[in-house]
Amino acid sequence: MPESIVLAIIGGSGLTALEGLEIIGEETIETPYGPPSAPLVRGRLHGRTVLFLPRHGRGHTIPPHRINYRANLWALREAGAPRIFAAAAVGGITPEAAPTRLVIPDQVIDYTWGRPSTFFEEDLDEVVHVDFTRPYDPELRQHLIEAAAALSLDVVRHGTYGATQGPRLESAAEIERLARDGCTIVGMTGMPEAALARELALPYVCCAVVANWAAGRGDSEAPITMAEIEQNLSRGLRNLRRLLAACIDRL
Ligand code: HPA
Repeated sequence: MPESIVLAIIGGSGLTALEGLEIIGEETIETPYGPPSAPLVRGRLHGRTVLFLPRHGRGHTIPPHRINYRANLWALREAGAPRIFAAAAVGGITPEAAPTRLVIPDQVIDYTWGRPSTFFEEDLDEVVHVDFTRPYDPELRQHLIEAAAALSLDVVRHGTYGATQGPRLESAAEIERLARDGCTIVGMTGMPEAALARELALPYVCCAVVANWAAGRGDSEAPITMAEIEQNLSRGLRNLRRLLAACIDRL
């Protein structure tokens, strides 16, 4: 019998393929919501079976507001994912959320709009409201934090992820507002992904890589460039891969 899947990894910007993944096969899954961003890749990572799905598609062509989050989550559950590790590129709002650092958020605020964001809207026997007090699975978060400590890896152990609509970056005033709301990092894909995982009862954790200072933060008056984002991401993702490996070892 093939070993069951220990983890599904949703890759974000900069993580459209997973280095070190020994590919076993690919699964093209149709869902009631249409196709996911890409075929699911089943593979072995650090001796364990995992699934991998690049959120923005294989060629990184699907912008945040056009991702079929429902299809992605549905397909992962259908393929047997027991839990989800979501990698995400973010902007840093507070001083500790500095470029290249990893942040394990424990809260989220949703500023997105117009995205299909629930599985519970049609053919219902009754209205469903899932609990979302702790949007990220506390046990999986603890697991990641312990894995990081064992590696002496520098991670920020708390954070509030502000999920914005994109695809443009924010204005400085929008970031000021997010900061007043208590957001420490900002990204475009955190929601409805986390909420949909909860609706499917899939434990979900986010590991965010800070790609840039959010608009109006940091010392520089210069515009945020894709080159800066890519350079910081590639450094941060090296640490994310180490953390992922340690996390899989402990599952
Ligand atoms: N804002 C929103 N999303 C992002 C950013 C940002 O500054 N950087 C990377 N993803």
